[in-house]
Amino acid sequence: MPPTLPCRIGVLVSGSGTNLQAIIDRIEAGELPAAIACVISNNPDAYALKRAARHAIPAVIHEKGGYANRREYDAATVDILQKHSVNLVVLAGFMRILTDVMVNAFPNAIMNIHPALLPAFPGLHAQRQALDYGVRYSGCTVHFVDCGTDTGPVILQSVVAVEQDDTEETLSARIQKEEHRTFPAAIKLFSEGRIRVEGRHVRILP
Ligand code: GRF
Repeated sequence: MPPTLPCRIGVLVSGSGTNLQAIIDRIEAGELPAAIACVISNNPDAYALKRAARHAIPAVIHEKGGYANRREYDAATVDILQKHSVNLVVLAGFMRILTDVMVNAFPNAIMNIHPALLPAFPGLHAQRQALDYGVRYSGCTVHFVDCGTDTGPVILQSVVAVEQDDTEETLSARIQKEEHRTFPAAIKLFSEGRIRVEGRHVRILP
């Protein structure tokens, strides 16, 4: 993948936005050479919107109502992203599955973070799935988004040990700490033009 500088990120959110905050903090600290061009939320009550406002980042509330289907909704999302000249889309707790309309508009340029070591425990409640299964290690995965659910090429992973007395809450909290480090690190690689996708494999260039 050629260098994509300057990296203009569109962040899609639905909830609290702690990953959005981690990305904002790295950019403001001068550690991440990128700009957040816009935040898009499908949920008007998402706390992530307050975080965007606090940092004077343009935000758009984009609800599903009024669209005939998911592809039409995605076409409108693409329009918003293109109007903001976005070249990297970041799904930071965005609770909708993307259609081919979004995926094809930003080939190998949509990243998601998942709270498990994919391909283990895709979909919802990944931390509970890991606890129920009894694994010793879980973690988080940053991957490119394709048309499947949590199936795209893996960019970075971080491992978190599962403790005997972990609950869904305690494990989620430790995984989130890793998410806040791993997601900005993957975005940094992209913004430096150091990611090349070869089939399922993501090569990280020196
Ligand atoms: C994270 O746990 C992430 O792994 C999952 O959604 C959650 C979003 O949290 N995809 P936040 O809104 O960034 O706090």
